[in-house]
Amino acid sequence: MRAVVYERYGSPERLELRDIPRPVPGAGEVLVEVVAASVNLSDWEGLHGSPAYARLGGLFRPRWQILGTDIAGRVAALGDGVTGFGIGDEVFGDIMPRSGGFAEFVAVPESTLAHKPAQLSFAEASALPQAAAIATHAVALAAPGARMLLNGAGGGSGSLAVQLAVAKGVQVTAVDNAGKLDFLRALGADEVIDYRRDDFTRRGPYDLVVDLVARRSVFAYARSLAKGGRFVMVGGTGRALIRMLTAGAVVGALTGKRLGVLFVRQGPSAFVPVAHRCAAGEVRVPIDRVFPLEEVPEALAWHGEGRALGKVVVAVRDE
Ligand SMILES: NC(=O)c1ccc[n+]([C@@H]2O[C@H](COP(=O)([O-])OP(=O)(O)OC[C@H]3O[C@@H](n4cnc5c(N)ncnc54)[C@H](OP(=O)(O)O)[C@@H]3O)[C@@H](O)[C@H]2O)c1
Repeated sequence: MRAVVYERYGSPERLELRDIPRPVPGAGEVLVEVVAASVNLSDWEGLHGSPAYARLGGLFRPRWQILGTDIAGRVAALGDGVTGFGIGDEVFGDIMPRSGGFAEFVAVPESTLAHKPAQLSFAEASALPQAAAIATHAVALAAPGARMLLNGAGGGSGSLAVQLAVAKGVQVTAVDNAGKLDFLRALGADEVIDYRRDDFTRRGPYDLVVDLVARRSVFAYARSLAKGGRFVMVGGTGRALIRMLTAGAVVGALTGKRLGVLFVRQGPSAFVPVAHRCAAGEVRVPIDRVFPLEEVPEALAWHGEGRALGKVVVAVRDE
């Protein structure tokens, strides 16, 4: 089968299209014939081996040599004991902590997959799993009418979170670079901020701040919150993570605010409800561009260099 492989951490030039053996599903696994796989920030982090947590699977060399964790495709074979799927079923899922979606076939645990809603294309379905789970968990923290700020809102998770929050009656301020602000307004954001010009921690205050790309000090985050407000870090630098895990609770206790890390429970129960809302036309699947399998390096660069409005998808084969 064709697969895009890398053996060392580095830039997109490390990625190579190769012919490798098709995987065989083990017990409890499903072999998926991949039709589409979407790009996540975690692919960019896994390619570069940075931040440090991206090397948890392999300190010097990547453990999973094929990137791509959000997939959609058809069931091609079943391992022993699989009961929830049959050959030919259309499925989608987030296969983290392993990866392997930028390939014609991938063997994954049955528990990571769900049946694809028929109204969604494979490209649309592949765009949802990780981003929908993050968006769902983030928006669950906001009460209707609350002032919520989303930092890094123009990417995959943020562009879904903006829509879910607006639909819930939350007042949304969306932060990203200037090129994404019209897109965020079109998704329903009440206010937008260009992070390259303005520091949102000096605006507000907000009842809830969700940071997908955290890099500031806990004091700056505390400053951005209203009395009793809450800050959660979803992604960001290793340094910001350590600061949040060590000083976050202390600064929170001293200021009467809550600061912490949002650990997102992945899996079908976390993303399927959003997929059904997308299938019903209530929420838009924000796909920016689709690249063919041989252009995975370009797809990752397009996403990693910050040009994508929402999601980037890799079409592994025709729908
Ligand atoms: N906590 C958990 O359990 C969990 C689980 C899975 C994933 N994650 C993390 O969750 C995050 C998900 O992000 P995603 O997939 O939505 O990423 P994404 O699609 O790459 O979106 C990130 C957005 O942030 C923008 N951005 C970059 N630097 C910024 C800055 N300094 N200030 C404001 N915006 C900035 C980017 O735009 P530009 O670069 O163009 O400026 C981009 O629009 C990732 O960090 C991932 O590692 C967390």
